[in-house]
Amino acid sequence: MGMYSEKVMDHFANPRNVGELPDANGIGEVGNAKCGDIMRMYLKIENNTITDVKFMTFGCGAAIATSSMATELIKGKSIEEALKLTNKAVVEALDGLPPVKLHCSVLAEQAVKAALADYYTRQGVDPEPIVGKLDDGHCAGCEGGSCGV
Ligand code: FES
Repeated sequence: MGMYSEKVMDHFANPRNVGELPDANGIGEVGNAKCGDIMRMYLKIENNTITDVKFMTFGCGAAIATSSMATELIKGKSIEEALKLTNKAVVEALDGLPPVKLHCSVLAEQAVKAALADYYTRQGVDPEPIVGKLDDGHCAGCEGGSCGV
């Protein structure tokens, strides 16, 4: 695992916010089309703020580390800030990921977006104009099969 940064290893070995949230009001589940891994993201949103977040991932070490970091980055933040979370920001916060593992970080970004979309749907609001189209974990960089995974 020498290809991973210390931060990745730390979040992989001690992932933050793992589990389920019984009183979540936004739940997103996405699968990584590239490898078949799955992530579920639970959000508790009160007064436009993400007051709690948990995740479950059945995926590789990079997927676990990026989900863990993503939950840390959105906890306590507003919906607007969470919507701006990109997989690039998560990867940067982890001091980088090996190129072949970048597609794994897309799973975290998409799971957050899917959970926010679920939140809006439950409020009777069409999520697409706000959250955008969900791409179910497809990594644009991987299209064309150049990603090597
Ligand atoms: Fe599947 Fe990383 S999420 S290989």
